Amino acid sequence: MLQLIHYPHPTLRITSKPLARVDDSLRDLIEQMFEIMYEHRGVGLAANQVNLPLRLFIANPTGEKDSGEELVFLNPVIQKASGTIEADEGCLSLPGLHGTVKRNKTVQVNAYSMDGKEINLKVDGFLARIIQHEIDHLDGVLFIDRMFDQGAILADEIARFEARFDKQREEGQIPDDSKLDQQRQTWLDKYCR
Ligand code: NI
Repeated sequence: MLQLIHYPHPTLRITSKPLARVDDSLRDLIEQMFEIMYEHRGVGLAANQVNLPLRLFIANPTGEKDSGEELVFLNPVIQKASGTIEADEGCLSLPGLHGTVKRNKTVQVNAYSMDGKEINLKVDGFLARIIQHEIDHLDGVLFIDRMFDQGAILADEIARFEARFDKQREEGQIPDDSKLDQQRQTWLDKYCR
């Protein structure tokens, strides 16, 4: 069973590896990711947010299970980006935290679907923001890295997440770094070679 991980879990800071194959168990993992995303009221979720080191993310801008379109992007790449726009963002890896982030207004993204079809999309608005946020995740970048001018409050919140993570690790709820490396390598061996 996949589980949501929170900042500062090390898997949130890795660069995800491109997928070399798709199989039924990957389909099952993606279904689980949608369940987790809806359960936590999210609109997008990158694989490394559930401790998978794979280059994929899912999205549904409506955030509702039975509405909108469920999007899956495998090996996504932003090919062009233009304009800038600021808006409020949050992230399931840092629940409760919000802040203003500057993003490109329009992006052109290339990716593959689960059935191997190439996707070329030019989008703006909310979906463009989601795509940039999720591709950042796949590169180990978090929205807090792009938040400015929110100094003291942000530092306090981040310290709280770090303290909670340290406690969970002491209690054995989160494996040590070498065990996490091992877990990630197992996924890479399965999907990225
Ligand atoms: Ni996020």
